[in-house]
Amino acid sequence: MTQETPIYKDPKQPVEARVRDLLSRMTLEEKADQLLQGLIGKDVNPNNLGGENSFRPTIGSILSYSGGSKARNAFQRIAVENTRLGIPIIWGYDVIHGWRTCFPVSLAQACSFRPELTEKLSRVSALEAWTDGGVDWTFSPMVEVAHDPRWGRVVEGYGEDPVTAQAFTTAAVVGYQGKTPEEWKQPGYIAACLKHFVGYSASEGGRDYHYTDISPRALWEYYLPPFEAGVAAGARTLMSSFNDICGTPAVANHYTETEILRNQWGFTGFIVSDWGGVSQLKAQRYSSDPAVQTVHSLEAGNDMDMADFVFTNIPELVKAGKLSIATVDLAVERVLRVKFEMGLFEHPYAPEVPTEESCWKPEYLETALAAAREAMVLLKNEKQTLPLAPSGLKRVALIGPHWKNNLVHIGWWGALVKDDEKHAPSLFTKAQEFFPDAELVYEQGCPAPSVKSNLETLAARDEALLQAAAAAAASADVILLTLGEGGHQSGEYKSRRDIALPPCQEELIAAVRKAAGDKPVIALVSGGRPLAFQDAARSLDAILYIWQCGYGASQAAMEILTGKVNPSGRLAMTFPRTVGQIPVYVNQHHPARFGLNEYQDIPEENGPWFPFGYGLSYTEFTYGDLSVTPAASEGAAAFTAKVTVSNTGKMAGSETVFWYLSDLEASLTQPLKRVIAFRKIDLQPGETREVTLSVTRDMLSYVRGDGSKVLEPGDFILSASGKTEAKFTLNA
Ligand code: NOJ
Repeated sequence: MTQETPIYKDPKQPVEARVRDLLSRMTLEEKADQLLQGLIGKDVNPNNLGGENSFRPTIGSILSYSGGSKARNAFQRIAVENTRLGIPIIWGYDVIHGWRTCFPVSLAQACSFRPELTEKLSRVSALEAWTDGGVDWTFSPMVEVAHDPRWGRVVEGYGEDPVTAQAFTTAAVVGYQGKTPEEWKQPGYIAACLKHFVGYSASEGGRDYHYTDISPRALWEYYLPPFEAGVAAGARTLMSSFNDICGTPAVANHYTETEILRNQWGFTGFIVSDWGGVSQLKAQRYSSDPAVQTVHSLEAGNDMDMADFVFTNIPELVKAGKLSIATVDLAVERVLRVKFEMGLFEHPYAPEVPTEESCWKPEYLETALAAAREAMVLLKNEKQTLPLAPSGLKRVALIGPHWKNNLVHIGWWGALVKDDEKHAPSLFTKAQEFFPDAELVYEQGCPAPSVKSNLETLAARDEALLQAAAAAAASADVILLTLGEGGHQSGEYKSRRDIALPPCQEELIAAVRKAAGDKPVIALVSGGRPLAFQDAARSLDAILYIWQCGYGASQAAMEILTGKVNPSGRLAMTFPRTVGQIPVYVNQHHPARFGLNEYQDIPEENGPWFPFGYGLSYTEFTYGDLSVTPAASEGAAAFTAKVTVSNTGKMAGSETVFWYLSDLEASLTQPLKRVIAFRKIDLQPGETREVTLSVTRDMLSYVRGDGSKVLEPGDFILSASGKTEAKFTLNA
């Protein structure tokens, strides 16, 4: 570096010195531009209104859809080489469950209960997105705990339990950004964005973009913990949510964005609004005045404006004395800090490697397959129908709308993902591979969900398809049925008032069962959310819930059907029996009365259809007695819990041990039980392992509406997966 090199351009200088130096050189207009995110490329989310904005080289960020590294670099070159200060643009994109290699959707990832797989696949996503797309920043992970499967975006999160979501959030952040600040500085690590901050998932009635009524306690108990974990793991950006929290929209919420996030958690990165979130303050009847929208958002702690360009009024507001320059500087500092930290000034350009060379590497596809294998959940297996022995089968009927519909495995955020046979082989293709000696008879059975999905597909039926399916079922030894949601029936703005199967699929099950007589009917059900089809499911012998598991989906499904892989997915979200049972989730609070609190029209069946943690295996696991003893030394741990788990069946398998805690009496009412930890273990037949948990004081504490944690002496019950439990006392 020469003598004249400004501090901000010198990578040896501390980040804070570089930030201060650069800020001191910027004009008001340049500062305001750093707080804008514009668009380049074709938008793939039809809900994201608007289109390409004209490019301004001093802009802080671009949300680019389809350009790739080459296009990005061309624009970046103008920003870096043809502007006064040469500040690189940070390029964002929704890399949600893969860039080109498609992984299981987040909800399915959570069902693997292997956060290490999420870390791995997030790492791959970052590498592909950077080398192929020139993406520095992904709008992922979505870490919102959700209790209502009618909300289409449950597919994007890690389910209903905050502890599970915390573990997967941490894994995703580490996968994208690396474990240390030094790692993050290297090319190929991209910034994570925790979203949507906070409480969007509580949308009333599961309707997207709706009002949320969140008590202070629920905020701390359910919605904030995954964000806190993500910040602790090093996430450097957050996206504010569309909803409002206790009457104040998230984008203008000083309590969440500054008091909690910055003052309590020490976050020093930046917050971007969600698409149009600043101008939406008008729709929320908060303010129709762009000046108020900008001032309140910035003063609350929301630093960057995604896509709606309201923040272009910053210079005029400062000049008019309506917005302080200190507020603007603070936001600009945060954006610049992240750019320096991630090494963007040192490597502003992405590699221009051909897609074929940077994506779909064998090890990436292997990761996709590994994740799919562990995400699928076996919900039903009457009389050990599964696994199937392909050698004994002469004729196999493949019936249903999804056999040749690859999009069903890709899901909502798969815009750049190819859904052709080469990349995402269909279930039909894989069935041919796995049943080589059997005659396969294929029938669609009912209308397939269209790409645009929804109403017309849900309502459609086709008598000829139904008849042909029945005939195929009558002629086969075993019937494999594909059912469930299409690839775009869950996701953003894909809320549904009912989460049953479409009537045509229910009709198909009935027709196939009638024609099949006693022969096994096995369903492979796709979905981006729990579907409630208890009644229709009664006549099925086995149900494998295959979610939307990406490129490994069809291979993994066939491996599980034929016993090459023992299913080990467990539900990260409860399946209700009917939509009227919603909300039903693992850590619900205790009712005041039992018995009469139940729905009178389902007297025998008041629990969920399949609870959180549910999932069958081809082997059996037996739990020994659980012991809880005081921890050996004074420290974070208060007790040590131990349990042995044995594989008493005939096949190697994996079991997830869920640790549930019940606090029997407290000054604030408590859930019936709550998850405090989980651990997935692998066991050979006949093998026994001891699983230990350090029960920390933090785990025994509950949170109040002001965020403070309370540890009260008293009695607790700890349970391991609901199979064995022990009562213990925390003394005063
Ligand atoms: C709106 C969505 O709510 C958000 O999750 C996404 O990251 C942005 N659009 C950008 O596409």
